[in-house]
Amino acid sequence: MKVFIKTYGCQMNVRDSEALAGMLTNAGAELTASEADADVMIFNTCSVRDQAERKAIGKITFMKKYKKHNPDLVVGVIGCMAQHRGQELLDKIAHLDFALGTGQLHRLLEVIEDVRQNRRKIALLEDSSDVLEAMGMHSDYANLRPHTGMIAITRGCNRFCSYCIVPYVRGREYSRQAEDIIKEAKMLADKGVREVMLLGQNVAAYGCGGNVNPPPADVSPFGDLLQEIAKIDSIKRIRYTSPYPTFFTDKLIDIIASEPKICRNVHLPLQSGSDRVLKNMNRQYTADSYLEIVNKLKNKVGELTFSTDVIVGFPGETDEDFMATKDLMNTVGFDHAFIFKYSPRAGAKSAEWADDVPQSVKEERNQILLADLEKRSIAGNLACVGRTLEVMVDGVSPRNPARWSGRTSTARTVVFSHTEGMKPGDLIQVPIERAGRVTLFGPGLVGADEEL
Ligand code: 5AD
Ligand code: SF4
Repeated sequence: MKVFIKTYGCQMNVRDSEALAGMLTNAGAELTASEADADVMIFNTCSVRDQAERKAIGKITFMKKYKKHNPDLVVGVIGCMAQHRGQELLDKIAHLDFALGTGQLHRLLEVIEDVRQNRRKIALLEDSSDVLEAMGMHSDYANLRPHTGMIAITRGCNRFCSYCIVPYVRGREYSRQAEDIIKEAKMLADKGVREVMLLGQNVAAYGCGGNVNPPPADVSPFGDLLQEIAKIDSIKRIRYTSPYPTFFTDKLIDIIASEPKICRNVHLPLQSGSDRVLKNMNRQYTADSYLEIVNKLKNKVGELTFSTDVIVGFPGETDEDFMATKDLMNTVGFDHAFIFKYSPRAGAKSAEWADDVPQSVKEERNQILLADLEKRSIAGNLACVGRTLEVMVDGVSPRNPARWSGRTSTARTVVFSHTEGMKPGDLIQVPIERAGRVTLFGPGLVGADEEL
């Protein structure tokens, strides 16, 4: 059985697809990158923005031609859009065979078998928190970067930000047992993984029992987990995404400061720099309290880069609100950001409000923030020239096969020459000679296709 998997959306989906790929190959299936070759097609989908849903629906619809040639082909939709609109999609798309919600992914094999034998349409959409345990130990699928591994530590979200559909499609927040996570991290380490990425909709709320309020300043179950993972000798770096800002308690910040294996890049979703908009978004911080967390991190941890998510054109966002976002982004000095144009999601609270910022204004605000970001990113990269940075080797550079690339703890990409014996996962010292818009360059020849 040859299986084609296409993944949309966030890192959590990437990790779910990897876990499913592991489950499928363990059961004897073969993965294929070719749609034409597939006996089974799986589309792991995202619902966060309307555009993501439309893209996946377009692709699934287009797969009809393969079903014509191969009537035994099984086509399934899984993940957030399946959870959100699974039954509707099964009703509308004749060649779609199954829809598996986010709480039912571990039942994939059973569903494929059922469709193959009985040729009936199947929807499994009930929420279930067993899914992470059931899939937890399947991260043994060899991914594109075998020295890195992803571990889901929480699932779901209890926060109900007014624009967001995640709490409805990923269910209530749930944290896995620390022992299971450590066991998985050790298993990955034994297989040669040197960097782990901990994943969840709100990783920093790990172990807080689903409480939307942060624990006291001297408590951080997430920090405790980071410390335990750091004890695994061959794991050299720990990353995580995404944390909700208010869960950066003093304890967590102290742990990050004292443990160099925890990477010096914090992705801290801001969404807006206007207190009025933040309130309407149901975000539980103000511009000032957000900045206070950033400053504590900067003061205690030392060198750090920050990245973020921002939404432009939220209902009622005025020029003044937008300028507050622009100013706060410059004050923090983000090196990287995902800027999203607001799109109403049926089911989320804000969909009840008029989407009153014109598309052209959303686009203009988007461009203004992107231009600011580019300036800062170049300045941040230029400031690295002349320094020697520690880099984890990823492998051959995707842009120039004559060179290799890797990343700093601060998540900057560095391109350098391969030397005898160097392999992915090694930590090396690279003198930075030049800086481009998105890349730093170590010594060696400049390839014609290198981007400066
Ligand atoms: N419209 C635009 N962006 C959104 N996001 C979540 N919901 C929406 C929406 N309805 C963005 C947020 C979140 C990121 C994953 O997607 O910035 O952090
Ligand atoms: Fe969505 Fe807010 Fe939960 Fe993030 S914290 S997943 S934006 S509801």
